[in-house]
Amino acid sequence: MRIPLTAILCLIAAIPGVARSQATPPVRPSRLGLCAACHGATGHASMPGVPNLAGQKLDYLRQALKQYRDGRRAVPVMRAAIGPLSDAELDALARWYSAQAPQPRAHP
Ligand code: HEC
Repeated sequence: MRIPLTAILCLIAAIPGVARSQATPPVRPSRLGLCAACHGATGHASMPGVPNLAGQKLDYLRQALKQYRDGRRAVPVMRAAIGPLSDAELDALARWYSAQAPQPRAHP
């Protein structure tokens, strides 16, 4: 049986980590629960004083998370939330939040 090339490409694109592009939405990170209580699962914060993360630049989120983890941003609440997460785990979270759609503010 001949499998069409497009079917193979679709399959490859569906496997996370094999073909990653900005167009494919990231997989929901396993650690998202650590963050969702404050930042919301889609990056729309539910608490005063907590920044929205949805649609923020990927590089910025990545850097910010490493800075909290390494103590260059000394914010105890964020350091505690991140704990010893690996670069790969922080990366997955940054990708997730960066890919979420930002919402216009309700009260400008
Ligand atoms: C207990 C509430 C809480 C939890 C849980 C929490 N955060 Fe935060 N987060 C905050 C607060 C408050 C700030 C603002 C800190 C500051 O002033 O730098 C912040 C800041 C951030 C920023 C920087 C945003 C910016 O615009 O500079 C990122 C990125 C972030 N959090 C990601 C995460 C991720 C990813 C997790 C899960 C591992 C997480 N946070 C868990 C409360 C929380």
